[in-house]
Amino acid sequence: MSESSSVARVAATLRELVKDRPAGARLPSSRSLVRELGVGPVTVQRAIDQLVADGTVITRPGAGTFVARARVGGPADTGWQRVALGASPVQASGALEALSAPPVDCLDLSRGYLDVGLQPTSRLAAAAARAARRPQAWTVPPPSGLPELRTWFAQQVGAEAEDVLITPGGQGALSTVLRSLVPAGSPVLVAEPGYPGVISLLRSAGLVPVAVPTDAGGLRPDLLERAFATTGSRVLYVQPTFANPDGHVLAADRRGPVLAAAAAAGAFVVEDDYARFLGHTSTPPPALLRDDTDGRVITINSLTKAAAPSLRVGCVVARGPVMQRIRALRIVDDLFVPRPLQETAVELVTGAGWNAHLRFLSATLGERMTALTTALAIELPQCGFTRPQGGFSLWLELPRGVDDADLARRAEGAGVAVGAGRHFVVAEQDTAHLRLCVAGVDLPRIADAVQRLASAF
Ligand SMILES: Cc1ncc(COP(=O)(O)O)c(C=O)c1O
Repeated sequence: MSESSSVARVAATLRELVKDRPAGARLPSSRSLVRELGVGPVTVQRAIDQLVADGTVITRPGAGTFVARARVGGPADTGWQRVALGASPVQASGALEALSAPPVDCLDLSRGYLDVGLQPTSRLAAAAARAARRPQAWTVPPPSGLPELRTWFAQQVGAEAEDVLITPGGQGALSTVLRSLVPAGSPVLVAEPGYPGVISLLRSAGLVPVAVPTDAGGLRPDLLERAFATTGSRVLYVQPTFANPDGHVLAADRRGPVLAAAAAAGAFVVEDDYARFLGHTSTPPPALLRDDTDGRVITINSLTKAAAPSLRVGCVVARGPVMQRIRALRIVDDLFVPRPLQETAVELVTGAGWNAHLRFLSATLGERMTALTTALAIELPQCGFTRPQGGFSLWLELPRGVDDADLARRAEGAGVAVGAGRHFVVAEQDTAHLRLCVAGVDLPRIADAVQRLASAF
């Protein structure tokens, strides 16, 4: 008999012995197993090692081998948890969808993060290596973040470094800010269509998202005023620059009226500036924060979209007493953003090559978006869209009667992953939409991806 089959036989015998014994019971000694089973001590030891590895037994040197207390990975009767947990307040479906990888062989028009080919991977590797060698790399960072990083973010949005708090990406920033401003149960106005991660986090925090419609010029100030008046909300969430999912930019002549409507309602404006570095051709308009004169606008920015999803470094920019509350909740949540990641971010964005990376990114996203809109015009003339000038995503309006979730399922069957529009809205819609992203499909395959989508129609 081979060595491995002897080990398997002894392991099976030991498993039988364990079945009849309570947790903590001692098993026969190795010596008696050698004698009774007629195998060598090495075989017995290897079999015991297998049972230790899967948590069936534990060994205590000098004392013997014992049946483990809890069988790791074994079936557990967890029915009681369903009773204890009750109805779930946590709703992560839209956010989870954004993270799930499509099946292999599927072209990915759904993911809102750069594919590896667009990430500055070698610069990131070099930045991380330099960061890890910094003497302070593994120590506690200053509570608001590394001063160099705060200064850099402040320059990007036009603020003072002292008003910047470093966060674990944009989602972490949004979560902290939106939960800081108003108690559970409060309405929060959301420009619609909007980012599913915010809708999920509001609902999970017991806050109530209320849609405010947008058009090609962004939020409609007339409907915003009405929404403030009917809900009494004290918070508006808006993406003024290249909004996800439809890429719109808040029109210059609406910036004043939006801020005025918020001021009249005594409300904060949470500006999600996630796409500051993702303009395709022209420079994006300044952050809405620049027009703010009374600490009303709280701006969020992040490096995940322009660099890589796992460079989870972002920031909140806020002025006045509200920052104390945001900072306090940030610390209560998880203390601070790991210093090696902050050091890496500093190395990356202040190092040579960052601006060249951004230029490459803009040009590539612009080319991909042109390829997408060209292919859509040919393959899907029955669908409507406006070409975004920045960001990753395009909002495709489907003909009446076409169901977005059903089409997304069929598209996946045809080999292309797309986002069902329902995750991006709170209120019922006249027509359904798909969100198509150019971050995850390279230029030569975009036309193929659109053909696959057309075949699913
Ligand atoms: C509009 C918008 N804001 C914020 C985020 C969160 O980004 P992250 O947490 O990766 O920085 C996303 C991610 O998809 C987004 O689309």
